[in-house]
Amino acid sequence: MKLKWLTTRNRVKQALSGGVLGITLSLGSSSALADTVEVLHWWTSGGEKEAADQLKAKVEADGHTWKDAIITGGGGDNAMKVLRQRAVSGNAPSVVQMKGPAIQEWGTYLVDVDAAAKKLSFDKILPTEVKSVMKHKGKYVAVPVNVHRTDWVWANKKLVEPILAKAKNQKGFDQILFVGKELKKKGVQAFAHGGQPWQDATAFEAISLSVGGPEFYQKAFVDLDLKTLKGPKMKDVFEKTREYTKLLDPNRKGLDWDKATKLVIEGKAGMQLMGDWAKGEFLVAGQKPGKDFLCFPVPTAGQRGFLFNIDSFTFFKQKSGSGKATQGQLSFAKQILTPDFQQSFNLKKGSIPVRVDSKVGAFDKCAKDSFSDFTNDKVRRLPSFAHKMAMQPDVESAVVEVITGFFNSNMTPDSAVKRLSSSVEEIIED
Ligand code: GAL
Repeated sequence: MKLKWLTTRNRVKQALSGGVLGITLSLGSSSALADTVEVLHWWTSGGEKEAADQLKAKVEADGHTWKDAIITGGGGDNAMKVLRQRAVSGNAPSVVQMKGPAIQEWGTYLVDVDAAAKKLSFDKILPTEVKSVMKHKGKYVAVPVNVHRTDWVWANKKLVEPILAKAKNQKGFDQILFVGKELKKKGVQAFAHGGQPWQDATAFEAISLSVGGPEFYQKAFVDLDLKTLKGPKMKDVFEKTREYTKLLDPNRKGLDWDKATKLVIEGKAGMQLMGDWAKGEFLVAGQKPGKDFLCFPVPTAGQRGFLFNIDSFTFFKQKSGSGKATQGQLSFAKQILTPDFQQSFNLKKGSIPVRVDSKVGAFDKCAKDSFSDFTNDKVRRLPSFAHKMAMQPDVESAVVEVITGFFNSNMTPDSAVKRLSSSVEEIIED
């Protein structure tokens, strides 16, 4: 399985970026507590917590102490801010949840966990392009734990199924909008949508894939092709997004993603555009896919796509350490990819296992569909930019700022296209 990931433009930018966001960092402190692993992460919702607890139990069963450094805030923006502050003051946690291109940016501050990688043959069990992102200078400095998909629709079955049947004649994202508008006519909130920039970006990337198709998504958000960013399809995407925002609760500011999911679970809203960590919330509430809720990827015109978001963990050098991974860090790295952990963790998290040799017999239909799409070469796999997989952090922030500005104002699609393309242009031409 081959994943087309960072493009030349993004790679060049990465090489030029001169260290982590241009700041000089000192290393983490204290290796006296070599077998205490302090883990910085943002898994706080019901489903996320159950999944994180699986990992904690594994590390502790291996004789180490798990110290939580939980930073609330879905999507990890707050966690990344805290990481920078802690790294600057010489107090980096030993284990940090981190994504895609950022791993390379932090590369020189990380220890390698090659000893664990050799033991578990990471090179054999990980998809080709996933493993290259986990390595810095040829050594594993990060370990992936799952594959999430972000282009999902989560629906309350009772509310949505009867309308979906009537939406068959509609194409692409119009199908979803049709269902939303029908719900609104009935006085039901069409979409549950939380009020934070990363949630706006998550819905927007799904709409982009749905409206523009995979090739458009690749060019616009992975290649950062200015012609595509300025082009007519980009305007179509913003137009459909405007139809979508008109169906949202205007009082959503600050609403967390899991509170939004709860509205769908409780039948107070029909649908949510969200990654499959949302499934963890339905499961914690005792609901079953196909019976109480529906999951389906946004319909795309033409070739189907799959927006992936891979959670991984990195291992930070400790100030008074030897520059090598501690036993606790190695244990952590090793646990993540064992077949039984891949099962138990991903069953709770809503994601699918990242090992290529995984069996998904015990998983539900949403996960089985996801696994079969992820491993099907006819489905185009693309990195989620809303979840930090596609762009360098500075480009991503600029893109998300325009998107969230559009969601939360009366900005026209024309003006959004101009703002988006010019802010990307400014950064890449720097
Ligand atoms: C994503 C992360 C997921 C999930 C989500 C909401 O960035 O990859 O694991 O936790 O944020 O918090």
